Amino acid sequence: MARVLTGIQSTGTPHLGNVLGAIQPAIEMAKDPENESFLFIADLHSLTQIKDGSLLRENTSAVAAAWLACGLDTSRTVFYRQSDVPEVTELAWYLSCYFPYQRMTLAHSFKDKSDRLADVNAGLFSYPMLMAADILLYDAHLVPVGKDQLQHLEMTRSVAQRINHQFDPEHKRKILVVPKPLSREDNMLIPGTDGDKMSKSKGNTLSIFADPKTLKKAINKQIVTDATSLEAPKDPDGSVVFKLYQTLVSAHDAEEMAEKLRAGGYGWGHAKKDLLEAIVDGYAQPRARFEELMSDREAINDELKKGAEKAREVAAKTLGRVRSAMGY
Ligand code: TRP
Repeated sequence: MARVLTGIQSTGTPHLGNVLGAIQPAIEMAKDPENESFLFIADLHSLTQIKDGSLLRENTSAVAAAWLACGLDTSRTVFYRQSDVPEVTELAWYLSCYFPYQRMTLAHSFKDKSDRLADVNAGLFSYPMLMAADILLYDAHLVPVGKDQLQHLEMTRSVAQRINHQFDPEHKRKILVVPKPLSREDNMLIPGTDGDKMSKSKGNTLSIFADPKTLKKAINKQIVTDATSLEAPKDPDGSVVFKLYQTLVSAHDAEEMAEKLRAGGYGWGHAKKDLLEAIVDGYAQPRARFEELMSDREAINDELKKGAEKAREVAAKTLGRVRSAMGY
């Protein structure tokens, strides 16, 4: 049985790209009886960028509600909030004392972020050690991550190996499990409203959870279409409206739209209306569930607390092994 663990950034309500590219695949993967899955909201990592406590909480709720609304089964997945298991920060400290400063300075993601962000704090720099602690605390075997996180996984493996080697060169005490990355295809297949990969930082997202009015406005205003007349035949493959529609519906329904576009007499306005419907109707159930959860924060909290209890049991054991290895 492999333990699969992933952390999710809590940067606000997940968009369509997150849902199709990360949430749905992870929920499918968690159904595999061969795996045991741990999934947490990385709200301590968020503190490197978000300094407003109510926004932090709001983002965590929205992310948790989205995963639950999309069908995450919390009887099979340990689903928790990173900050509910404070053991992780203790482990992060131990790890950082066993990882060379020089190698920390080579982290790409820190370089990227420190070029982009105004607030370049020390937490941003030590981010990879907290991430390593997230993984090592739970004896994870496999960590599905996007390409941008592979270096963090390398650092995680390296620090685990250093500690194991130092205290347990013969592998008898099994202090830390050295995890493997499970390279996940990034959600680059999901185009944003401008045709580029959908991403929050690019401002080209669509939310499956927005109210129909907001969604309609986003589809109509953000997706640029050419000026072909209603009657003229159109090329579906060059169109963002069609590409988005295609990711949402069956191959049969997508072909139907493609034929209508090619035939002419079907305008971009019609296609946009069909796209809106595909989101609103196709996700009717998750949308309703999301609303329900967001108006009942207790329910979200209860789920996360239950998860944290299970997570803490594992965390306490790992931390015990590390403390005693180090002489505490
Ligand atoms: N750094 C990850 C990201 O930006 C989120 C994350 C935090 C994570 N801790 C983790 C992912 C542990 C996997 C395992 O997406």
